[in-house]
Amino acid sequence: EKVYSVAIDGPAGAGKSTVAKMIAERLNLAYVDTGAMYRAITLKALERGNFSKKGIIKIAEESTIEIINGRIYLDGRDVTEEIRKPSVDEKVSTVASIPQVRKRLVEIQRQMAKNSGVVMDGRDIGTTVLPNAKYKFYLTADIKIRAKRRYEEMLNKGINSDLEKVEQELAQRDKQDMERECSPLKVAEDAVIIDTSHKTPEEVVNEILDYIKRDE
Ligand code: C5P
Repeated sequence: EKVYSVAIDGPAGAGKSTVAKMIAERLNLAYVDTGAMYRAITLKALERGNFSKKGIIKIAEESTIEIINGRIYLDGRDVTEEIRKPSVDEKVSTVASIPQVRKRLVEIQRQMAKNSGVVMDGRDIGTTVLPNAKYKFYLTADIKIRAKRRYEEMLNKGINSDLEKVEQELAQRDKQDMERECSPLKVAEDAVIIDTSHKTPEEVVNEILDYIKRDE
């Protein structure tokens, strides 16, 4: 029985979650969206109106986060849609910069990957969470293209945003994610870099599956 994990990292809007979900399905592995976990903690801090570092750490330490059938549960409540709110986008990188928050979520993430193979996406999966993952990919794309994708994703949900603002928000979040002290977003030494700017999700998935099949 082959058990292996696939780590997919990269900046916001590079297509990680779309691709990771498809790969997980094709390989019959569980999909773990780690960004959703940082978002859930952020949502709870927003709801409590407590954005002190101490308050956020307490929330991270006392909350339960589960991923079941692609839905994310915070203390047993389904928050899958709510964690995509713009107010969460705006604050999540600040929450994710707190070492104690990362420590707690990384523990949960490692636990999720302990007994079965997973496809896990995030910012620090190949570098920190699963440094021994058999396959590591770093997806990236031109900022303009990433912003356009995010903008269209929101339009599809009926939210009419401003393309320029979406681009600024992504750039700001990337900067914060790359410059933080604690496990910043960076390319793992042994990761395969894929520029998704001019590729469809299917093309990226096939490229990744080609790497994996070469080995398995
Ligand atoms: O992937 P997504 O855009 O939903 O992630 C939201 C935020 O969560 C990122 O901008 C980053 O600040 C944080 N994050 C992280 N480490 C991960 C996954 C996400 O710091 N492994």
